[in-house]
Amino acid sequence: MTSDGRLAGRRVVLGVSGGVAAYKSAVLARLLLSEGAEVRAVMTRAATDFLGPATLAALTGHPVVTSLVGHEGSVSPHTDLGRWAEVVVVAPATTATISRIAVGLSEDALSATVLATRAPLAVAPAMHTEMWEHPATQRAIATLTGDGVTIIGPESGALAGGDEGPGRMSEPETVLEAVVAMLAGGLGGTSILITAGGTREAIDPVRYIGNRSSGKMGHAIAEEAARRGAAVTLVTSSHLPSPGAVRRVQVESAQEMADAVASVDPDVAIMAAAVADFRPSTNHDAKLSRADGPPEIVLEPTPDILKTVADRVRRPFLVGFAAETGSLERAVEKARRKGVDVLVANDVSQPDAGFAVDTNRVTICWPDGRTEPWELAQKSVVAARILDLIERELGRTR
Ligand SMILES: Cc1cc2nc3c(=O)[nH]c(=O)nc-3n(C[C@H](O)[C@H](O)[C@H](O)COP(=O)(O)O)c2cc1C
Repeated sequence: MTSDGRLAGRRVVLGVSGGVAAYKSAVLARLLLSEGAEVRAVMTRAATDFLGPATLAALTGHPVVTSLVGHEGSVSPHTDLGRWAEVVVVAPATTATISRIAVGLSEDALSATVLATRAPLAVAPAMHTEMWEHPATQRAIATLTGDGVTIIGPESGALAGGDEGPGRMSEPETVLEAVVAMLAGGLGGTSILITAGGTREAIDPVRYIGNRSSGKMGHAIAEEAARRGAAVTLVTSSHLPSPGAVRRVQVESAQEMADAVASVDPDVAIMAAAVADFRPSTNHDAKLSRADGPPEIVLEPTPDILKTVADRVRRPFLVGFAAETGSLERAVEKARRKGVDVLVANDVSQPDAGFAVDTNRVTICWPDGRTEPWELAQKSVVAARILDLIERELGRTR
């Protein structure tokens, strides 16, 4: 144990549920301890089929809680652990445990501890691909993300029984980094929805109306938010890699993006996607032929996603983006009209700002008419400044 590690003196409850990846929890316990954390472990009954509690007891130096009653030294181990914890991390998290937490079913020591704590929670799912992709699991994951739970992984790779695919638990080193971020960052326990990329509106099966947005800005914000410990849902049409511990929902059209956004109930929403304002009113089933001559394409409005979020009863802290080509007057007007808390405006006509480049020059517009131009910076720096601003604003309202 070290006293100068990144988690020196921090109190971590490590929850272990019943999957083959339970062996990784022993490595995770060692990593947490080597960063100076105090660790207490709680295991489900099924977890003890995969890893003996004696292993985690010996590593942590404390008895492992495996049941709600009959625990030596505590008549109420779940509330004791829940109050003691500064962070709870469940790794591995089975489908059963994830589902129990999502519906508040506190029927064993692990789920009862999770329900009995106010500490931020992270789960590292581990399961076969079929179980991970099952709608019931995905519903539970969406609920947890909306509740501010950080979802770590899963990765795609080798699974038990020689199978391969998404569902493999993230490596203990990755889980450790997420825990460090949650304790260090100012956004632990905050759920953030981020949209990214440009939407594509189908004309026929091969053609679409699109825009030049790359998704780089939104992905940079998602990466920084995850690094600060937020529970991030990234709804993206971009094909950039997933940034860190985020829940990714891949979409293509404005309608798909609207549907994905509607299923999330976050504390903060950052709408960085370039959503098409109009789409062809007819999406032809078959490819249009040149021989038939130029088609007449009639456009209709797409759903106004920003407005829909602004009008919610439980309205998140809302950050809009506006891509303009010239004066910022329209952006200031949009900040007022759309009911956002902050609007990030960028002039996408400049070669070093806006779409597809790594830098951005933005002006922050407040609904009361104030504007704050920021100098040209890497998108990662702009992302950090936007999140600094949000942390400040949340600090004022919390
Ligand atoms: C060999 C074996 C491996 C298993 N691996 C997993 C797994 O990786 N993920 C999972 O969700 N369930 C897995 N299960 C099923 C769980 O053990 C089962 O759903 C159990 O009820 C989980 O309980 P718990 O969440 O209380 O630990 C496995 C079962 C067996 C027999």
